[in-house]
Amino acid sequence: MSSHFRPPVPTPRAKPPGPLQLLAVLRRNVLEVWSEADFEIPIQIRKTIVDRRALVSDPVGIRHVFLENARNYPKNELQLRLLRPAVGAGLLTSNGDNWKRQRRILAPLFSPKQVEAFAAAKERVVAQSAERLMQKPAGAIVDLSEEMGRLTLEILEHTLFGQGLGRDPSEFQHAITRYFDTLGQLDLFDMLGLPSFVPRLNRLRGRTTLGFAERVVNDMISARRRLLASGEAAPQDMLTLLLQAQGSDGPSVSASEVRDNIVTFIGAGHETTANALTWTLYTLSQAADWRARVEAEIDENVSRGAPVTELAITQAVLEESMRLYPPVSMMSRLALQDDTVAGVHIAAGTIVTVAPYVLHRHRTLWRDADLFDPERFLGANRDAIDRYAYLPFGVGPRVCIGMGFAMTEMLLILRHLLSRFRFDLVPGHLVEPQVRLTMRPAHGMKMQVTTR
Ligand code: HEM
Repeated sequence: MSSHFRPPVPTPRAKPPGPLQLLAVLRRNVLEVWSEADFEIPIQIRKTIVDRRALVSDPVGIRHVFLENARNYPKNELQLRLLRPAVGAGLLTSNGDNWKRQRRILAPLFSPKQVEAFAAAKERVVAQSAERLMQKPAGAIVDLSEEMGRLTLEILEHTLFGQGLGRDPSEFQHAITRYFDTLGQLDLFDMLGLPSFVPRLNRLRGRTTLGFAERVVNDMISARRRLLASGEAAPQDMLTLLLQAQGSDGPSVSASEVRDNIVTFIGAGHETTANALTWTLYTLSQAADWRARVEAEIDENVSRGAPVTELAITQAVLEESMRLYPPVSMMSRLALQDDTVAGVHIAAGTIVTVAPYVLHRHRTLWRDADLFDPERFLGANRDAIDRYAYLPFGVGPRVCIGMGFAMTEMLLILRHLLSRFRFDLVPGHLVEPQVRLTMRPAHGMKMQVTTR
């Protein structure tokens, strides 16, 4: 098998879809919305009957929107209103001063020191997951997408709540998974800007899925508050850190913000990480030479007892997989005032979109953009990549707060699993990316697991 294989994606359409066609496309697969010109032209303005949009794939323009003039481009309030019934008013879904205050308070939870402190808990959970795989009969077939979802949720559970939930974790996982699956339908309506979806989500909130997940989180918070108030030793997990977090002018995370941010971390950190891992294991299964290089690097790293930061080749494969299949395929902002972005006039009220899926395959920025080639992320090649041309975690003040957390976790998982197992795609399994909030394989990822 060649390392320069072409991972499957929908063929860009010749022309943008018309209004009726758009509905059908969005319902089927958001990725099919993009047309050839989107991958070739740096900035495009499109007016529809509902709104005015700009798709920006010019690194200079992205730098302007996400960094230099970020104040003019908050997240779209309508989008945030749609998400709030689901993840509350945490970091992901706030704007302005409220966002700034929360970001300042939450940043220490994700510092490199803290990420390192969580590594041991993560290693333990990965080891349990490997144990589960070990117990399967030789050559067993697993849906890696499910397996990674379970693993990343367990890791979040153990970093958020130290000893875990103290009740059947599969019950919690099931509730969370079902909840976010239902939520996955949201981006359709979000893109169309249909506020009538809000009442539907609010009804969903009352249902058992979220009700259960929220009850579990609320119970955990109350129990921890009591423990901390009693002065007894508490686990040094995210929950304790969050409850103890203080702003510069006194205590400033409210009880509901604690809950909302816990739910936000689960929502923002679970599927994204699981999907990045699933796509990485998929690309490796298709590129025998890169798999051999990764295995050799990992074996050497393990035998030296070296840190995961020394896994340059493995990281390059992970980064290349996130280039081709970015878990967050699209980010949107709303222009408050008229502006000029890389020489193009942007009228107030325009929805400005940066789509990592398009940007990462843009013909003007990447050579052989659709081919898998991790060499791009090694050594001098890596240094030559424009900071604003590769955005799996976003950029600027609203860059993913969990980036370091996720990168360390993914490398720990890859090291642990690939030092023991080999994953091969089940022949005939249809691999098709689809966006449901995050980019995931539409039909799961059936792989045969063998021990190395
Ligand atoms: C591979 C894994 C991940 C990917 C690809 C990813 C991607 C992203 C992206 C692209 C954004 C910016 C969105 C925008 O600007 O509109 C973002 C924001 C965010 N992410 Fe992640 N993320 C990942 C893992 C995590 C994890 C593990 C956590 C937490 C435990 C997390 C928590 C958040 C939060 C809270 C925000 C909002 C930050 C803010 O607005 O200040 N993410 N993520």
